[in-house]
Amino acid sequence: MEIMVSRRKFLKYLIGGLAALVTGSVLSKLLSTQDVSEGTEKPTEKSQEVMTTYQSQATSTTIQTTSTMGTTVTSKVLSVKVGDIIKLPPPDIKSGMLVEESIARRRSIREYLRKPLNLKMVSQLLWAAQGITEPRLKFRAAPSAGATYPLEVYVASKEGGIEELPAGIYKYDPYTHSIKVVKLGDFSVRLYEAALKQRWVLEAPINIVITAVYERTTRIYGERGIRYVHMEVGHVGENIYLQAIALGLGTVAIGAFFDDKVWEILGNPPNEHPLYIMPVGYRVRK
Ligand SMILES: Cc1cc2nc3c(=O)[nH]c(=O)nc-3n(C[C@H](O)[C@H](O)[C@H](O)COP(=O)(O)O)c2cc1C
Repeated sequence: MEIMVSRRKFLKYLIGGLAALVTGSVLSKLLSTQDVSEGTEKPTEKSQEVMTTYQSQATSTTIQTTSTMGTTVTSKVLSVKVGDIIKLPPPDIKSGMLVEESIARRRSIREYLRKPLNLKMVSQLLWAAQGITEPRLKFRAAPSAGATYPLEVYVASKEGGIEELPAGIYKYDPYTHSIKVVKLGDFSVRLYEAALKQRWVLEAPINIVITAVYERTTRIYGERGIRYVHMEVGHVGENIYLQAIALGLGTVAIGAFFDDKVWEILGNPPNEHPLYIMPVGYRVRK
């Protein structure tokens, strides 16, 4: 009897999975061409596409990076406003490090050099987290149950945390490989307090925050979808860990934080629930 039940359940998930795979690929096509309330948004009329320094024409100001990061770096900081879309430089799909080495060297790193990251690094980390790796079906770097893609990815940069960008909260759009300015300002102290004052959140030049829209997965898989979403954030977290190592950076997955405070920092995104904070910075070599 038990075997019968579990077979029936298995069939249900199999059928659900196949259905989701088909709808998932249709969905991802739709998502890539339409505005969606639950997820990544397309530029509004008021927002402008800001070309990165890699693509010339960027409006920028030359500044000396502030002392919060300790070092003095002269760089061009893009002039952006809330709602602007910043095109990221294309990711590299080859590096000098083999995946085995990255796995062998992976550790949770909680101490970082006081040195800003650049936009190319941010591009690479976001691509490893959720970038499109199959252009036709829009499948992504990390696996997703039924290709339902419940996760959203943000970057919280402190003042001088990213060479080319002002401090702020930025949201990743995998379909256009760009980030949208959600908020401007340095939220690192608030994020640190929300994460139970874990020092590495305050000290990292950037924090990647991953949220989930559970409904995207539970509407296909029911309650079991919750489990799938949690598995998926683990895949994304590991991709970020391994990509960070290959870039000479370090990170740590953080699960201990006040959900509501992190959600507020992100601008109260509807239906989204924060799952991971991942501070990223240059590793301190010992
Ligand atoms: C789900 C999860 C939650 C975690 N939360 C935290 C955290 O809040 N703060 C922290 O410093 N490390 C956190 N970690 C990192 C673990 O402490 C770390 O992975 C563990 O000590 C093993 O070390 P390693 O990652 O270097 O192998 C978390 C890891 C996981 C998988």
